[in-house]
Amino acid sequence: MSTLSTHPKSVSGGAFYAGRGVTKTPIISYAKGIFFWDTNGKRYLDGSSGAVAANIGHGNERVREAMIEQAKRFSYVVRTAFTSEATETLCRVISELAGPGFEQTFLVSGGSEAVESTLKLARQYAVVTGQPKRSKILARIPGYHGSTLGAAAVTGDPDRDQMFGPIMRVMPKVPAPLCYRTPTGYDAQSYADHCADELERQILAEGE
Ligand SMILES: Cc1ncc(COP(=O)(O)O)c(C=O)c1O
Repeated sequence: MSTLSTHPKSVSGGAFYAGRGVTKTPIISYAKGIFFWDTNGKRYLDGSSGAVAANIGHGNERVREAMIEQAKRFSYVVRTAFTSEATETLCRVISELAGPGFEQTFLVSGGSEAVESTLKLARQYAVVTGQPKRSKILARIPGYHGSTLGAAAVTGDPDRDQMFGPIMRVMPKVPAPLCYRTPTGYDAQSYADHCADELERQILAEGE
């Protein structure tokens, strides 16, 4: 008998919203275009396309049909051994849209994994071009780059560094030149100059 099945009444079950102070969110039933409807029939304007992820709108029929057709063919192929027509078509379209210099595409499953892959790619590029000592990534405060540890290491959030720093390698940070609510004593130009100076200082301090 498993540990869980010995305590069936103590487990209520449900999604875990870690670290956000959120315990209950509306249950979305369906969506169309820019609107969501919850299970009580209440409508919401999805003004941010989720986290900027559904920006051609919900329920797009061409997307839905393409997903259904692809799902009918196979569920998964591992990229180290196989590719697919859909993969190759998508990569070709991305390259055409991105323009010269972007002939190859590395597909991942989300933003955090994209950031992880980018950090690794930058490091690997340094090594194979004879610069093995280059291992630091300069990041900005504030910033958010995802939920995984590599992405957290370049996320500009001191609270996060304090919590997760001991289990990752926190990367050096510089202030982002944000003009909205500049710190006391600065206007947009003087704060931009300050951030540029900080960037230079940090590059010199960090060295290779
Ligand atoms: C700038 C930025 N990078 C990375 C991420 C992480 O993306 P994902 O949630 O798909 O892992 C986000 C998510 O909000 C983001 O806003």
